Amino acid sequence: MIGVFDSGLGGLSVLAAIAHALPQANLVYFADTAHVPYGDKDDGFIRNRVLKIGRHLVDQGCTVIVVACNTATAAAVAALRETLPDIQIVGVEPGVKPAAVASNSGRIAVLTTTSTARSERLALLIRQHAGTVQVDVLPCPGWATKVETLHLDDPDFAETARRHLAVVLDAGADQIVLGCTHYSFLIPVLEPIVAGRATLVDVADAVARQCVRLAGASAHGHGELTLFATAHPERLQAALPALGLNRLSVRLTRPARLATT
Ligand code: DGL
Repeated sequence: MIGVFDSGLGGLSVLAAIAHALPQANLVYFADTAHVPYGDKDDGFIRNRVLKIGRHLVDQGCTVIVVACNTATAAAVAALRETLPDIQIVGVEPGVKPAAVASNSGRIAVLTTTSTARSERLALLIRQHAGTVQVDVLPCPGWATKVETLHLDDPDFAETARRHLAVVLDAGADQIVLGCTHYSFLIPVLEPIVAGRATLVDVADAVARQCVRLAGASAHGHGELTLFATAHPERLQAALPALGLNRLSVRLTRPARLATT
């Protein structure tokens, strides 16, 4: 079984790519909606949540765990690997490398949460893979919370996003990396803003390919999806149809024991 988790709905973009690549796999998705957003929390808090959720997913029978959250990966994937040495763990990191390769202007931008923006892991990723281009890291506080509402056709938000991105677009960035899994849901809002000037870079499909490589026996199942949400389970349910995930046999549970820190 493959377990996928995030602070909320964002990781569903990764889950959908995995479900598409491995249609038979039994999947578990855990949304820590009682504590979203992670992006404004400190590393100790995030690590504590990640270790608890990781343990819970192993208890459900997961042998592959996908940390479908850039913020949690940056703050805690190393600790999770140390705690669960027998489990295959896939982290999600911003697509800095493909963006640097694809850039013609020599300038890229990475949209992230506040926590990811200040992380040592992102700094290292940039040093290792983007030495030949200029990188603007642009924290986007409030964006993940906006996605959680699922009211994305909000003209005020589109205007806020347009003003926020103008800084990096005007500076010449031609690749805009979505460095938070929640931002995949914003592609319909962001695409018209960057059209003709830059390309949005999302890694959900690359993560799914990595999962396929690691899945082995975990890929065999009956296409069942078990959802856990520490709060607002109805939001998870509401997000499924747009992602094509409602075709799976879905069971939704609220793990009260994990709702508190
Ligand atoms: N979806 C997450 C990420 O990829 C976290 C968003 C949040 O909870 O702040 O960074």
